[in-house]
Amino acid sequence: MKVIVTKDYEEMSDAAFEIMSKTVSENPRAVLGLATGSTPLGLYSRMVADHEKNGTSYKEIKTVNLDEYIGLDSDNKESYAYFMRKNLFDFIDIKKENTNIEDGTAEDFSAECERYNALLSVLRQDIQVLGLGSNGHIAFNEPGTPFDSVTHVVSLSESTIKDNSRLFDSIDDVPKKAFTMGLSNIMNAKKIIILASGENKAKAVYGMVKGKICVDVPASILQNHADTTLICDASAAKLIEEFVK
Ligand code: GLP
Repeated sequence: MKVIVTKDYEEMSDAAFEIMSKTVSENPRAVLGLATGSTPLGLYSRMVADHEKNGTSYKEIKTVNLDEYIGLDSDNKESYAYFMRKNLFDFIDIKKENTNIEDGTAEDFSAECERYNALLSVLRQDIQVLGLGSNGHIAFNEPGTPFDSVTHVVSLSESTIKDNSRLFDSIDDVPKKAFTMGLSNIMNAKKIIILASGENKAKAVYGMVKGKICVDVPASILQNHADTTLICDASAAKLIEEFVK
């Protein structure tokens, strides 16, 4: 895994944008795997600014998102579908029909997982953006998730519900279940960038980069990926400093 340590969140977002922008300019028909959460917001705002300023086009780009809460429709402000529209898709020239995410309102969970897996088998990510959960999760693959997992339904861990409750009115409003791409869907991406910012990610960053590859830290599987770059700020890199200097 390549590791880039930046001074702060802004520099982390600059470095992520540089890689994303290269992918899009080299292949205007690329498939972008996208993530939600606060971490990639700086990357998305740079993509919007670049589209406005330089006219970078997303007309032929397709996207696949990692995960979605079960029970929230795409107009619900807490849904990941809404998040993607309000932070990226509404401000670039991407065709809405080219953006993909699991349907949080699907009643037949296994049919929805099958639909999404079939889609991912034809839309292999040229680049996959990832954030990192403080317990080492990626997408919603919580500790214990098998490495060969594909899109599935997950019961969110207490720590993830607590971490994500900051975006809801109350912790009781956080859905308890979600659809998520599995770890093998993520590992299938040609290129991965994983972003981490802040001291609360330092332990997970250490486990991902320096720990044993094990299901207790789902992100540790990325050590086996041929083209993964971790971009993290100095606070998130606190425990790996000595290895990257
Ligand atoms: C959620 C998302 C993950 C994201 C993680 C970290 O659990 N499902 O995809 O990486 O939160 O979020 P944040 O970037 O807000 O710290």
